[in-house]
Amino acid sequence: MALLEVKELTKVFSSKKGKVVAVDTVSFTAREGEIFGLLGPNGAGKTTTIRVLATTLQPTSGTAIIAGFDIQQDAESVRQHIGVLTTDIGLYDRFSGRENLQYYGQLYGIDGEKLNSRIQALITQLEMESFIDRRAGKYSTGMKQKVAIARSIIHDPQVIFFDEPTSGLDVLASQTVVRFIKSAKEQNKLVILSTHQMHDAERLCDRVGIIHDGALIAIDTISALRERTGAPDLEDAFLALVKEKNLSGTPDNVVNGTDSSEGDVLKSEDPKYKTVTMLRMASFIVVALGLLALFIPNLPEKTQYFGQALVLIGALGIIVTKTFLKKYKK
Ligand SMILES: Nc1ncnc2c1ncn2[C@@H]1O[C@H](COP(=O)(O)OP(=O)(O)O)[C@@H](O)[C@H]1O
Ligand SMILES: [Mg+2]
Repeated sequence: MALLEVKELTKVFSSKKGKVVAVDTVSFTAREGEIFGLLGPNGAGKTTTIRVLATTLQPTSGTAIIAGFDIQQDAESVRQHIGVLTTDIGLYDRFSGRENLQYYGQLYGIDGEKLNSRIQALITQLEMESFIDRRAGKYSTGMKQKVAIARSIIHDPQVIFFDEPTSGLDVLASQTVVRFIKSAKEQNKLVILSTHQMHDAERLCDRVGIIHDGALIAIDTISALRERTGAPDLEDAFLALVKEKNLSGTPDNVVNGTDSSEGDVLKSEDPKYKTVTMLRMASFIVVALGLLALFIPNLPEKTQYFGQALVLIGALGIIVTKTFLKKYKK
């Protein structure tokens, strides 16, 4: 059964300085018992995709159906069926791990013996016995991550979104996360795993979606992607796919400049932009020369006319180039 069906999902962020298409008409489906990787470098749009699917952000267009519910029309039901682990762990430091789990369980409407036995099962599964009754503020990053995982699935959801779950973890803590993801698959859950680490994707994912500048440029099993590109490993396959995509000349997700300095570099390197800027500077010089001719006393009448003409031509140049640059900025 398809637990997740993403349909032309798009998320555009607008700011004063421009628009960023963080998720660009992304479509894919994923099934129960599957580990689906969203693979891409920093800034590719993985977190935004997960936030939109988890109903913490509204999509600009498109939608998704999760466990039969539409993220736009039935966000509350979607939230009951998903577990989300983001990079921001957010536990209550003054509570113990167990108290944190009790608190979140109650938020999902679970309590009493049912909640206690669920928490006990998670403590065993994630090996948290030794620290679960200590204050969370004193935990190591790995311990916090274990409690955060337990918290995200306290209501036993069918679909689990994990955003870069091993980032910042040491080898041992990473291993716990990896084991957990594998056990979720064995329980027939759907795990959507975002990562920029090829190694994680390689050892876990049944299929991956390669995300680049907000767009999914390939979806397949890792072995099929390797075969298609002739690459020995996922990292080389990834680079080949990005290169293929760039050569096909599809524009990237930065629409006419962003708030990052990257956007500025792109703009200043555009030959059209450079030419117009130069024309604009020339127009200012022409006006200055014209004014000079007008204001120098005792020049012949002809020179005066020439000066006026220069001022007019220069002014026209300034207006035209200004209009063009305005359009460019929008
Ligand atoms: N709240 C926001 N406002 C504006 N731009 C954002 C916001 N969140 C993310 N972006 C931009 O969207 C793009 C994708 O970001 P993100 O989804 O965090 O990528 P990833 O998780 O793959 O590193 C980036 O260009 C980022 O700067
Ligand atoms: Mg991210």
